[in-house]
Amino acid sequence: MACDGGCRYDYEDYQEAADWLLAHTDQRPRIAIVCGSGLGPLGNTLEDQTVFPYQDIPHFPKSTVAGHAGRLVFGTLRGKSCVCMQGRYHFYEGHSSSTVVFPIRVFSLLGVESLIVTNAAGGLNEKYNVGDLMLIKDHINLPGLAGEHPLRGTNDERFGVRFPCVSDAYDKDLHDLALECAQELGYKDFIREGVYCMVGGPSYETIAECCLLRALGADAVGMSTVAEVIAARHCGLRVFGISLITNKVVTSYESQEKVNHEEVLQTSLLRAQALQDVVSQLVGKVA
Ligand code: HPA
Repeated sequence: MACDGGCRYDYEDYQEAADWLLAHTDQRPRIAIVCGSGLGPLGNTLEDQTVFPYQDIPHFPKSTVAGHAGRLVFGTLRGKSCVCMQGRYHFYEGHSSSTVVFPIRVFSLLGVESLIVTNAAGGLNEKYNVGDLMLIKDHINLPGLAGEHPLRGTNDERFGVRFPCVSDAYDKDLHDLALECAQELGYKDFIREGVYCMVGGPSYETIAECCLLRALGADAVGMSTVAEVIAARHCGLRVFGISLITNKVVTSYESQEKVNHEEVLQTSLLRAQALQDVVSQLVGKVA
């Protein structure tokens, strides 16, 4: 492992993890799916599964959050070979941003071409309701703007360029395809399109912070996803992202409402099936 003030891994570490996985499964996934809080059951719907707990895979760190299983599931969804992360790494767990994105780079070495990221998020947009599904059209990388960036450190050109463009981070075709799926499934009433803002967590936001994020133009806030998306774009993967709005953030000092992790998990159960349906239908349509 190399330590140069940013990236903690050598290319060989990613390669070893990828080689180990390729030696232990016949699946050759072209699509990777990251399951957010309470959204892990999506991985259970894969057929012909091969499952690898993170602790068995070379260089994979352990995931520590309740509600995140911490395993890779290989299998097929709608006839497509996929790999699913049940449990992701979060910055708030103490992982560096380069650790958070470690699996994404391994996926690219496996031959994955498209990444689907899901998460639970707080609704900032006043029009959003609890249970809405928000297709992510763009993001604000708040930790990244402040210097905590997954690509900080020596750049490895084998993954991508030093200064990658992310103005097209979320693939327009996948986005439109997902909208089509939502329409077909009869879910249009609770589908939104918006901007996801990543914060470091683990405390939820203060009222003043929520007002700030709303003023910045964010529609939803969460503690994940953005680092993974940047690393994926850096190494040339197409990305689709979707947030389940599990709570409305508090923006008034008159409000008695308080967000808590149990509420977030409960709501994710409520609409997890709908989110699963959209993702699964989308996978079926991806070229
Ligand atoms: N804030 C940050 N992260 C979250 C929230 C929230 O309100 N809800 C779910 N994840």
